[in-house]
Parts: sequence; C-alpha cells; structure tokens
Amino acid sequence: MNDVLDYLKTNQPRFVEELCELLRFPSISAQPQHKKDLRACAAWLVQHCRRIGLNAELCPTPGHPIVLARTPRRAGVRPHYLVYGHYDVQPPEPFDLWNSPPFEPTIRGRQLFARGAADNKGQFFAHLKAVEAYLKTSTSLPCDLTFVLEGEEETGSASLTPFLRAHRRELRCDGVVISDTGIPKKNLPALTYALRGIAALEVTLRGPSRDLHSGLFGGSVENPAMALSQLLAKLRDAKGRVTIPGFYEDVVALTPLERKQLRRLPGTEKSYRRFLGVPQLYGEKGFASTERTTARPTFEINGLTSGYQGEGGKTIVPAWARAKITMRLVANQQPEKIMKATVAWLRQLCPPTVHIEISAGHGAPPYLIEPTGAQVQAALRALRTAFRYEPVLIREGGSIPIVSDFKRILGVDTLLLGLALPNDNIHSPNEKFDLDCFTAGQRMSALLWPELAKTE
Ligand code: BES
Ligand code: ZN
Repeated sequence: MNDVLDYLKTNQPRFVEELCELLRFPSISAQPQHKKDLRACAAWLVQHCRRIGLNAELCPTPGHPIVLARTPRRAGVRPHYLVYGHYDVQPPEPFDLWNSPPFEPTIRGRQLFARGAADNKGQFFAHLKAVEAYLKTSTSLPCDLTFVLEGEEETGSASLTPFLRAHRRELRCDGVVISDTGIPKKNLPALTYALRGIAALEVTLRGPSRDLHSGLFGGSVENPAMALSQLLAKLRDAKGRVTIPGFYEDVVALTPLERKQLRRLPGTEKSYRRFLGVPQLYGEKGFASTERTTARPTFEINGLTSGYQGEGGKTIVPAWARAKITMRLVANQQPEKIMKATVAWLRQLCPPTVHIEISAGHGAPPYLIEPTGAQVQAALRALRTAFRYEPVLIREGGSIPIVSDFKRILGVDTLLLGLALPNDNIHSPNEKFDLDCFTAGQRMSALLWPELAKTE
C-alpha cells in the first residue's frame, strides 16, 4: 500500500495536467451541437484507461457513448465493484459570469476552475488515478473493478438503463462506488446514504396564433405569460408546500435520530443565507434548510420563457409562454405517480382562455439506504484514513438517476463517496474542484479496495 500512496504523491503534477486535458472537452450532453465533443471526450478516456493498464472499450449507444474499462482479471474469485462516473457536463451559460473560460481549465491557489471540474470529471478521475497507482506499482488490487463512465447523466441517463440490462452478466458485482456528491467541508468527509429523485416536464400555454400588438388587442385576449405566471403561482401555498393533490402522500419522514444528526452539521442559517446571496431564506414551514434540501420534495421552475427577450421593448401580447420544471422527490415517492398527478393538476388549473401542452421529461426515483452494512463501514474507514477526519453520514438533495437502476437491475447498493465542496459551484458559473479533495479522493479510493475486500 505504501508504494501506491507514494506513487500518488509523486505524480500529482502530471495527474492535474491530465485532468486539465479531460476538462478541455466541452462535453455538454444537453446541447446537440456538442455530440462530437462527447464522442471525442469518450475516445480520450478509452485511450487514457488503456494507457494506465485497463482493458477499455467505447460502447456506442443511441445517445452518447459509454466507456467501459476493466482491471485485468486474475484467477480466483474476488469481489467485483463497479465505479461509475459521468463525463458529460451541464451547459456553462451564462459565459460572461465566468472569471476564466469554462473549457480552459485554470488553477488559482488550490482550486482548479472549469465546467465539469467537480461534477464529475475530477471526481471519477481520482478513482482512475488510484487504480493506475496499483497497476503501475504492480501492487495486487484486492478487487476486480469495472469503470462505467457515461455521457448522459446530466440529461437523465436514458441510454445507461438499457445498457445495464443488456450487460447484466458482465456487470454482475458486489457493489457500486460513485464519487459524484459532496462533503460539508474539507475536514468533514461524508458518505451519502440518500439522494433525491427527480421528475422533469415542460408546460406550454398557447394563446393567439401569433404575437399581437398589445395596444390593439391587449384586453380582449388572454396573455399567455400572465396566465402561466398565475397558473404556476397556484402550485405552492402560503406555507411553502406544493399544492399538487397527493404530492406528499408517500413521503417517508425523517427519523428523530436523523433530525438530530442534521443539526450537528456545521454552518448557521445566517452564513448559509450570505453564501447564497439571498435577502432571506425560503422554504416549507416547519423544516430546517438542511431538511428542506435533502429530505423534502420540491417543485422548481428551471426556466421561464415568453414574449420578446431582445434589447429594448416590444409591445406585444405573446403567442405563447413556456416553463421548464423539475420536481425533486424523496423516499418513497414514485416519479411516474407524481408526474401523473402534476399533469392532471396543471390541466385542472389551466384557464379556458389558452391551450395547454405538457411534455413529460426524464424521471428518476429517490434513493435511500440503511447506512449500517459492512460495505458502509469499510467505506467509512477508507474516508477516515484518507481525509484524516471523522466522516459523517448525510442525505443529499441532488439526483444521480442511475443509482436506483443499479439496485433494480444489478441488485446492489451504491456507496456514494463524494469529493465536491459546497462552494464548488457545480451547475453554476466558475465551477471548480479543490486539488486537496482530488488528492484525498485518490487516497480514499486506494484505501477503499482492501477495506471492501475484507468485508467478503
Ligand atoms: N453530481 C450531481 C448530483 C449531486 C450533486 C448529488 C451534489 C448530490 C450532491 C449530478 O451530476 C447531477 O447534477 N444530477 C442531475 C440529474 C438530473 C439532471 C437528472 C441533478 O441532480 O440535477
Ligand atoms: Zn450535475
């Protein structure tokens, strides 16, 4: 093990350079014009995996390719773990808020700035570097590993689910390891035992057959932007609760023990408010922010479009208005059931003065495990040694659509061992990754495999 850790220590500058190479690909899965960049990024990863000694292949899908990379198989029965990551990133817009261009990685102090630095390229790269250390120092790796790196996580992982089904045999494993979540701070490593699910939809209200002069026609027809605003405003009540009938029906409440643990996390409501730049926090009455963002479901408008968006003014009644919406779901809510209830509620609330169109998008169930098993204990030991601090168990509010499929299709739990800090700006301008988290992540990964092997 010392050889492995020494190898990691001496090779940091090269690792950072390689990560920068990976970060230069604008692998934005949501934008069709970047399809080639995703392919190029996946091809780079295949080459890189081969260079560090893995058997790697590029697997085409109807969407973006999946990279599969395995450690050379040895004789004997050994535990097999999947390491999942995603090489696609969120759109970097708005560009003008970036201090350095999103796809020109820039280091300031110990921070590496680039879109995808923390979410998720830097995090899964830490695992690749740990495996490289084993292979290049000829240290025997106590587990077989298969890396599954996909390019559609940020759009709902549509191709990976059928891929898991089709490759069920070769992907049979004892568990999945993912670093694509966060930690409360550098000296507080964490294992995430719950993620929220998600249900996405777009709603469009159509009024007149074209944009109209608002002086000539305003007052005689519905304004779709106004109708949409009023419609959406009805989706939450004065207590900050979502009004969709049955929305909270299946929600599993936090246990008293969980609520107590949450209160032990660092930070105050005031520092949180300052960090976010809001005049006041807002949310469902009766819950703390840490509860609202992890264990309570939400309804969010992600985008709202109507009428003239260019410079200056334009006096029109717009022909249509559209909202992009996602709901975050918690255990035991089901995306399909929530989607159905939402569509019915929107239709019911829609005034007869406009046409309503609703298109359902991706959905993913929430994830919640009992963090008491042997694998969790093994992971906590690796975290403790790598970070040199006592780890905490946390729930997180983000979603990783594929984790519930790992359970459903492969029958295994996922260890969520995140490396991102709260101020890493994932999905925001100036995303970054802390290089101390990068190195700690590599150590954690290196230490994890012997710990997991012990649980057999
Ligand atoms: N890495 C995030 C998820 C995450 C971040 C979980 C921090 C916990 C803590 C992931 O890349 C992500 O952003 N997922 C999307 C999925 C969605 C588009 C289907 C999300 O949560 O919005
Ligand atoms: Zn993300």
